[in-house]
Amino acid sequence: MSFKISDKVDWVGKIDWEIRDYHGKEYSTHKGTSYNSYLVRDEKTVLIDTVWEPFGKEFVSNLKKEIDLNKIDYIIANHSEVDHSGALPELMREIPNTPIYCTKNGAKFLKAHYHKDWNFIVVKTGDTLDLGKSKLVFIEARMLHWPDSMFTYLTGENILFSNDAFGQHYASELMYNDKVDNAELFQEAIKYYANILTPFNALVIKKIEEILSLNLPLDMICPSHGIIWKENPLQIANKYMEWAKDYKENQVTIIYDTMWNATRIMAEAIADGIKEVNKDITIKIFNSSKNDKNDIVTEVFKSKMVLVGSSTINNGVLSSTAAILEMIKGLGFKGKKAAAFGSYGWSGESVKIITEELKKAGFETINDGIREMWNPDEVALDRCKDFGKSIEKIIGETIK
Ligand code: FEO
Repeated sequence: MSFKISDKVDWVGKIDWEIRDYHGKEYSTHKGTSYNSYLVRDEKTVLIDTVWEPFGKEFVSNLKKEIDLNKIDYIIANHSEVDHSGALPELMREIPNTPIYCTKNGAKFLKAHYHKDWNFIVVKTGDTLDLGKSKLVFIEARMLHWPDSMFTYLTGENILFSNDAFGQHYASELMYNDKVDNAELFQEAIKYYANILTPFNALVIKKIEEILSLNLPLDMICPSHGIIWKENPLQIANKYMEWAKDYKENQVTIIYDTMWNATRIMAEAIADGIKEVNKDITIKIFNSSKNDKNDIVTEVFKSKMVLVGSSTINNGVLSSTAAILEMIKGLGFKGKKAAAFGSYGWSGESVKIITEELKKAGFETINDGIREMWNPDEVALDRCKDFGKSIEKIIGETIK
């Protein structure tokens, strides 16, 4: 499959309908993904990015139907991660001397991945490449999301090839934002941002401000995953600006794991207490051992407050609680409040451990949490409800 996206540009990538895990098992792709590669034909011909290695042969074979490979003058590698560079070995076997334009780190990383002495041309922000009537302008995008990341802008067609930025793991043959279900599209876009770009919020703001200050005409943003932003392409840049500023909706997320249901019952009683005081708050409840961790992180991203609960086991917390706390810690959320809860039988360390972990993860813990022994009775459940009600009092206006 290939299709024309503008006078000079064809999409020549690969839609991966079946992939469900990314980065090993670190990112769930419920809706598949695509590896977007673009062929630009002016007086010179350029290939921008490739696809993941398992599709390398198919990619090169399809590309041959589009163009005599020897007519490709330049290759642009916006990012060295294998989902975009994986087909390079297959392609470079056919056209070994074709120059590959990338950042300094891009050349270093591609050499370390493939151990080939390809003809790398290192570029930096503001460098250009003449194609005839149009030209490419390179914009380094360090840490969005790797040190080698780069955007490439095509003049004349007014297209920003943004690689991972503004992308979504979302397979759809419709390919444009004005064609697909926008609820699905933005859910995948925010999940991508929450799970991958949160640590780089400050850099996201800086980079978008830099791009906007260039006043480049922009007809399309073409990321390397998912659909192309054609209708009002800047809407996704504006969303990124919103998400990068310690984004919060009127939401509390409750995450728990439980051995014999006592911690689950506590979670639900706390939720009842919050709801009793404030009916407008969205409360989402997840058992961390039964729900997808990236979906939970996406909800944490949207929340003003997070409550984390676990039974105590072996003087510690349940393994799914430890895993989600570790994940949240790595993302470095800012400006969110949190508290812990959990049931216990005798030693009861879980609440203290969770509170400490939440602090280390950058959350403002609003109290020492609540713990109940064994199976909570009516009195204990009232305490949990009161704990929920007190959350409203403690964080006041911030969750209204
Ligand atoms: Fe950073 Fe889509 O790879």
